[in-house]
Amino acid sequence: MEVVIVPDAAAGGDLIADAMAALLHRKPDALLGVATGSTPLPVYRALAAKVRAGALDVSRARVCQLDEYVGLPTGHPESYRSVVLREVVEPLGLSPEAFMGPDGAADDVQAACEAYDAALASAGGVDLQLLGIGTDGHIGFNEPCSSLASRTRIKTLTEQTRVDNARFFGGDIAAVPHHVITQGIGTILEARHLVLLATGEGKAEAVAATVEGPVAAVVPASALQLHPHATVIVDEAAATKLK
Ligand code: F6R
Repeated sequence: MEVVIVPDAAAGGDLIADAMAALLHRKPDALLGVATGSTPLPVYRALAAKVRAGALDVSRARVCQLDEYVGLPTGHPESYRSVVLREVVEPLGLSPEAFMGPDGAADDVQAACEAYDAALASAGGVDLQLLGIGTDGHIGFNEPCSSLASRTRIKTLTEQTRVDNARFFGGDIAAVPHHVITQGIGTILEARHLVLLATGEGKAEAVAATVEGPVAAVVPASALQLHPHATVIVDEAAATKLK
């Protein structure tokens, strides 16, 4: 595992956008796994700036979701499908066909999870998976004690994660869904390159446990230690608890 400490979130965003651009130069139809939440936004802004400047051709790029809320109505502005369309697909000028995600509104959620793992495999697998990290060490929505071999499945969010995410729902925790579909840790580990970005002091404990603690299901992000090509990029605030 490689750990890179950058001065701030914008520098982390630039670094990861550069890595994605280099990948797309090598492999124009690369499949990029995109996370949601606040942390990756500087990455998407930096990537879109490259496209606007004519420095990057994304005409064949593909993107896929990491996770999705269960039960939000189709088109809800905070569904992760809507977020990825708004923050990634539209700013990069990708066609909606270049974008895949699990169906959080499916009647048969289990079938939707299995279909998503199959779709990722038949797309050739994820080339670069961008990850954020929860204050409790989750990646995707694999909350503490998720199996390190898990596949895409339905999970229940912890109270802490619902509190953390209430800001996206006008501060109303009651509006935050209880359930999500998330790529499993085993699914995530199949991506060819994992890039985890963590910014802010609130992530410092989780980052230290991920990088320096034992590999353990109580810290799902520690599974990155098992991956042959994992890069953890942290700003100075998120690095404060590293030894
Ligand atoms: C979202 C996701 C989550 C977030 C994590 C951090 O797709 O997979 O693991 O990355 O909850 O969220 P932020 O970046 O909002 O602190």
